[in-house]
Formats: sequence, structure tokens, C-alpha cells
Amino acid sequence: MRLRPASSGAFGGWTFMVNPLAMLACLAWAGIAAGTACAAARTPPDFPPGQYGALVRQGWQIFTETPVRANQFVGNGLSCSDCHLDAGTRDNAAPLWGAVPVYPRYQAKSRQVVTLAQRMQQCFEFSERGWVPPLDSEPMLALIAYAHWTARGRPIGVLPAGAGLPTLPDTAQGADPVAGQALYASRCASCHGEHGQGRALAQGLFAPPLWGLASYAQGAGMSVAATAARFIWANMPLGQPFSLSPQQAKDVAAYIDIQYRAPDPRKGALAWLVR
Ligand code: HEC
Ligand code: HEC
Repeated sequence: MRLRPASSGAFGGWTFMVNPLAMLACLAWAGIAAGTACAAARTPPDFPPGQYGALVRQGWQIFTETPVRANQFVGNGLSCSDCHLDAGTRDNAAPLWGAVPVYPRYQAKSRQVVTLAQRMQQCFEFSERGWVPPLDSEPMLALIAYAHWTARGRPIGVLPAGAGLPTLPDTAQGADPVAGQALYASRCASCHGEHGQGRALAQGLFAPPLWGLASYAQGAGMSVAATAARFIWANMPLGQPFSLSPQQAKDVAAYIDIQYRAPDPRKGALAWLVR
């Protein structure tokens, strides 16, 4: 979980503070909500020594505080770790260690074999609603180093259990956004806000926006309702994995899917207006 001053607006002005009070609030909240994501993501792992360790650490910082640390490539308020939980190490939340061993990989959507770096560039463009960092830019080199470090000891070419997002069991029913709306109000709005705008949960502690311009754009993996349903089923409400039924996950994903977000930057004549 990213810490951020509660006063930050939806656009720009991100400033990062490691504030001991906020850290305390973070720990207390994580306990109350029975979720450890907050504490886990904020406590730096044991990095390797030397220059290599410094690069890995920089990657971890960018991953967990993306709008601040890679600010020139980010157009919204999301950190990578808002979707890739526990700083990209939680299974069933598209962990980095699940991706490293199987990239380069054929991607049906783009009809190309994409490298890990190219896959990250896609998350910058759509999930971060931002701009593509060059392959040799500092953030990209640091992120790649961090990703590889999380996958240390894993055999190359073998898809680990817990990689990606789980497959949602067939519910034999379509998604119902009206049921999803009620579920959103009872199980999600307390953290993500009535209007999906995200919300400070405690001082300096923030649940990320689910729609609107501060959230991910159309074209992001999460903007595909079926993908969001898989993520939600396995990870939300935070700290209660797999507590929703697959049908509930589909319904609430369908509700989120019909809300406004920035258009796919590749489509539409007016897309440049909102970028
Ligand atoms: C206890 C607070 C809490 C509740 C309740 C909760 N979330 Fe979250 N959610 C979070 C936090 C915090 C994150 C960011 C991940 C992290 O920091 O570990 C997150 C991340 C997400 C994300 C990915 C990031 C983004 O902005 O899109 C989605 C989607 C999401 N939640 C959907 C839901 C849905 C749907 C529900 C209700 C079924 C729900 N959440 C309930 C706290 C919560
Ligand atoms: C709004 C949520 C969101 C944000 C923010 C986000 N991603 Fe992703 N990312 C996804 C989803 C969803 C997938 C697809 C997972 C799947 O289909 O299995 C994905 C896939 C990936 C993959 C490939 C994973 C795999 O197993 O194939 C990598 C690597 C990745 N993202 C890196 C990043 C990086 C680096 C950032 C920050 C710059 C980032 N992501 C930000 C949601 C997000």
C-alpha cells in the first residue's frame, strides 16, 4: 500500500512523505482490516548488497510509489503495487515472479511476442494512463532489476503456481451490474469511496481510485471486465481473498466496468483532450 498525503488532489502535486504517524496508522489499519498488504508492501524486503541491491531497491520504490518516483511517465494516481499486491509478490495478483520466467511471451492481444520490458511499458501506457518509458530509461532498468530479483531461484520457462490471475470458474450466468452496484455499496465503497474515487483510509493511507481520470484507462488489463473479475475474486475486499463468489466478482466487475474512465489512448479522435 502506498502512503500519500491525504490532501493530494486527483491530478499532480504528488509528494511523498514517509511520515512515522502515517506508518503507524498503516500498521494499525492493516491489523483491523485483517489485511497485511499495507505493512507488507511498505516494509522494504532484504535487498542484496552493493550496486545491484541499490538498483533493485530503486525498482521496488518505483513499483510501490509510481506516481512519485516515475512521475514523468504516469498520468493517474496508481502505483504498480495497487494492482500487483505486496509490491508484486502476492500470488494470484499477477506477481512479478510469475512473469519473469515466462517472458518473452506471445501475447494474443498485440499479436506479438513481447518482452518483460514491453509488457511493463503497456502497464505504463494503459494502467498508469501515462507515457511509455524508453527501454533504457532509469525507471525501466530499475523495474526490470527488481522483477528479476523477485524471481530469483525460479526455473526459466516454467509457469509457477500462483502466476497471473486465477481462472474464474464458470458461473453459467451473465454478469449483473445492478447486483454489482449493491455489492459495491456493501463490500467496496467503505474503502474505495461511494464514487470509486479512492479514499484516505487513515492519515496518509489511501485505497486507490477504481474509475474516473485518476484510475486506469480503457485498454488496461483491468478495464476488461472478465480480467477485473478474476483480480477481484482473488484479492478483494483487501485481506479477504476468495471471499466473494465468482458470480459476485463478475457482477461487481461489471458495475465498475460501466463507470467512466479515460478512453483507450489508441482510439478516438478526442483522446488527446483527456490525456
Ligand atoms: C479494506 C479496504 C478495501 C476494501 C473493503 C476493498 N478494497 Fe480494493 N483495494 C484496497 C487497497 C488498499 C488496494 C490497493 C492494493 C494495496 O495497496 O495492497 C485495492 C485495490 C483494488 C483494485 C486494483 C486497483 C485499482 O485502483 O483498480 C481493485 C480493482 C479493487 N481494489 C476492487 C475492489 C472491489 C471490487 C472491492 C469490493 C468487493 C474492494 N476492492 C474492496 C482496499 C480495499
Ligand atoms: C490498474 C491495475 C494495474 C496497474 C496500476 C499496473 N498493472 Fe501490471 N497488470 C495488470 C493486469 C490486470 C495485468 C494482467 C494480468 C493477467 O492477465 O494475468 C498486468 C500485467 C502485468 C505484467 C505481466 C504479468 C504476467 O504474469 O504476465 C507485468 C510485468 C506488469 N503488469 C507490470 C506492471 C508495472 C511495472 C506496473 C507499474 C508501472 C504495473 N504493472 C501497473 C494491472 C495493473
